[in-house]
Amino acid sequence: MVKLGLIYRSLLNEDFSVLQVMEKLHSRREYVPLNLLEKMSGFHEEKLVLILSKLHSLGLIKGETISDEKMYRLTYTGYDMLALRSLVTRNVIEALGDKIGEGKESEIYEGLAPGGVHVAVKFLRLGRTSFRKTARVRDWALRSSLSWYKQSVIAAEREYKALRELVVHRALVPAPVGYSRHVVVTGYIRGVELYKKPDLSDPAEVLMNILETLAIAYHKAQIVHGDLSEYNILVEHESEKPYIIDWPQYVYREDPRASELLKRDVSYTVRFFKKNYKVDITEDSALKLVLEYSSK
Ligand SMILES: Nc1ncnc2c1ncn2[C@@H]1O[C@H](COP(=O)(O)OP(=O)(O)OP(=O)(O)O)[C@@H](O)[C@H]1O
Ligand SMILES: [Mg+2]
Repeated sequence: MVKLGLIYRSLLNEDFSVLQVMEKLHSRREYVPLNLLEKMSGFHEEKLVLILSKLHSLGLIKGETISDEKMYRLTYTGYDMLALRSLVTRNVIEALGDKIGEGKESEIYEGLAPGGVHVAVKFLRLGRTSFRKTARVRDWALRSSLSWYKQSVIAAEREYKALRELVVHRALVPAPVGYSRHVVVTGYIRGVELYKKPDLSDPAEVLMNILETLAIAYHKAQIVHGDLSEYNILVEHESEKPYIIDWPQYVYREDPRASELLKRDVSYTVRFFKKNYKVDITEDSALKLVLEYSSK
């Protein structure tokens, strides 16, 4: 397992300079030739080669020889370091801890923000496998041939913006703290995933809270989650408040797929509560509750 925090702490300013120059050059090319890197970074060849070999051994760059020319490109871990550097410099986070989750399209670490605030740091990793979420991200990326990394950047920005909108309307979602590139920082939820079927003192109330979040998203933020299931709901210890996580694939209400996706989000959730907590509600009446929701 790659320890991102450890790698981060082993980097010097000169290492970050080279990573930054590579990122800049990547805006126009997939591979960066050594001579261009030398010119742009200002390091002499011998020094640059030493830095590159350190970055390479840490897995932050990949080297390739293309038509007799030595070329390099950043890896996801390389971009991770640039995002962390930006988050640390802007005082969004202070430290990165252990990995707490690995999803189909992300890795989640815990972290500390200034003032000792516990945060979750989500590194988007689209494109490692192709699931429907990836397909939908590609959709917003105008179906272009954007690299997987760029799609992750778009997904992170989307997730951050959705969360910002949702917390304004007091939906139960992790509070957004900041983002950089393909990385989103949110408040840490001390809880358990719903799929683990935690003991709930009032399951019907928990389901109602979930439906209310879907309603706020639909009516106030004008979005539909689109990938809701017991895996994307964290039930906070003690309060038993259900937080809906994992938003990058949301669609806008006007999207032709919106009503279909909302129906599916509601159905999955209701079925889970019926099966595991014997909550007595039909899928239709739950959907009606969401569609006809009006906040007081
Ligand atoms: N804000 C948070 N606080 C605490 N834990 C979190 C938070 N966000 C995510 N996690 C943990 O990380 C896991 C994966 O998060 P998330 O669902 O956002 O990513 P994902 O890549 O979509 O995962 P998957 O595809 O498996 O659903 C969650 O199940 C949860 O355990
Ligand atoms: Mg998830």
